[in-house]
Amino acid sequence: MKRTLIAVSTLWLWASAVAAPPNGKALYQENCASCHGQNGKGDTGPKLVGDASEWKAKLFERAVLNGIDDQGKALKSPMPHWAGASFKTDHGTAPSKAEVDAIQHYLRTLN
Ligand code: HEC
Repeated sequence: MKRTLIAVSTLWLWASAVAAPPNGKALYQENCASCHGQNGKGDTGPKLVGDASEWKAKLFERAVLNGIDDQGKALKSPMPHWAGASFKTDHGTAPSKAEVDAIQHYLRTLN
């Protein structure tokens, strides 16, 4: 019985992870919009739409996770280095590349 329960819950966890790709819009609005603007056009942080939104995924991931821009320059505070932080609804877990990619895809829809 215990085994069955474990198997069922493992399957459920796996299925929910597969079935629910990260929601780029929600992630952006909850974690980035306060500085980069609701529409990604900039506020205290630079605009991302039509700029970093068009970078190669690897460069965008590096900027968001490690704070290094497309020119190899360190991004200054208050831009968080997200690899050492966590998105609001992730409860302390560092952001995944899939989440960062989902944010970039969402930004492209705001062009
Ligand atoms: C507390 C404010 C703040 C938050 C929150 C924030 N940023 Fe930033 N971000 C900045 C600032 C300020 C800069 C510019 C830093 C610099 O030029 O050195 C920046 C720079 C960037 C850049 C580089 C842009 C460029 O053209 O060089 C990217 C990409 C970026 N942020 C993405 C994000 C994403 C995605 C999120 C949410 C997961 C986010 N930021 C959350 C303030 C913030």
